[in-house]
Amino acid sequence: MRKIEEYLEKDIVIRDGRIVDLRPHKNADVKAKLVTPGLFDAHTHIPFVGSRAKEFYMRARGKTYLEILQAGGGIHYTSHLVRLASEDELYSVSASYIAEFTKHGVVGIECKSGYGLDKENELKQLRVIKQLKETLPNKIASTFLGLHAKPKEKSVGEYISEMEELLAEISKERLADFVDVFCDKGAYLPEEIEDFLKFSKSLGFKIRLHADEIENVGAARFGARLEAVSVDHVLKVTKEDIQELSNSNTMVTLMPNTSFYLGESFAPAREIIDSGIPVALGSDFNPGSAPIFMPSFVMHLAIRFLKMEPEEVLTAYTVNSAHLLGFDSGLVRPGYPADLVLWKTNEFLNIPYMWQENFVEHVLINGRMVV
Ligand code: NIG
Ligand code: FE
Repeated sequence: MRKIEEYLEKDIVIRDGRIVDLRPHKNADVKAKLVTPGLFDAHTHIPFVGSRAKEFYMRARGKTYLEILQAGGGIHYTSHLVRLASEDELYSVSASYIAEFTKHGVVGIECKSGYGLDKENELKQLRVIKQLKETLPNKIASTFLGLHAKPKEKSVGEYISEMEELLAEISKERLADFVDVFCDKGAYLPEEIEDFLKFSKSLGFKIRLHADEIENVGAARFGARLEAVSVDHVLKVTKEDIQELSNSNTMVTLMPNTSFYLGESFAPAREIIDSGIPVALGSDFNPGSAPIFMPSFVMHLAIRFLKMEPEEVLTAYTVNSAHLLGFDSGLVRPGYPADLVLWKTNEFLNIPYMWQENFVEHVLINGRMVV
């Protein structure tokens, strides 16, 4: 992840949306001080509506994320608002969030359901993601997170089988590429979801997990055994978990802004990266634990609290995240799509350092200038 190639005084030649050549500088239609691959945010909770500002103040006064969730707030509160929202409303709020991401250099992004928590509303969220895919320039990956919280109105068993029934329809309508589960204390435990995930795999979905964010319930290890494409958050993983992950093909997605926002510990990123596990970065953008989308701030936290090197941050935010989301992108190399960020600074190091400044000058997706 530290292997970065740097070229000076080059023209990036683009044809039909792809990079076709990197040649010594002659002339160019657009000039920039620095060009990097476009950023891919590997993990967000778009689409959602509404604010959970109240919970921020509750936590500041000592309540925990889990206490708020168990008292019917948290995910349940957003779910209440998402159920009330029309598809159009959900679409327009989400599209404007994604436009903000794009202004900050994000070309690709993961979106997921998980605030519907019943058949009708999980499908509504997935249809909104489909509409976002069809109408926005960004490269969007869609994830079904039906098992995000335990609904209050029915038993766990009942709910899991309902979501299992939904999988066939999601697969038929091609509404999701990934299936994710919140596997943690206060959410779902590995033994509760093993059959569900195996069934998801048999339908061709790739698996991701919200793993060991609040407590270690063996979720990361379980993900590695199930050949999940990624285990995410992993604040509470142990050395043994990391060992097991390093012997698998499972990636790790880190979101230091969630730790920051909840006042929690940070994932042991150094141990994870040093054991050879590829890491992706994301914002976890959601109204509860991470109402923060700015990649430069996520990068700042990754360097400061995850002790990542700037080269690792760039790799994690570009080629690694793109690969995880299923996009052949994230490199400035002939043959690759022209998904690029043109920056106003010639030093990548300035971006995480002065995170409040938006150094993005232009953003290209498939060669088209969208910012
Ligand atoms: O990734 N941990 C579970 N899900 C989200 C939070 C979603 C929410 O609180 O609305 C997370 O942190
Ligand atoms: Fe999340």
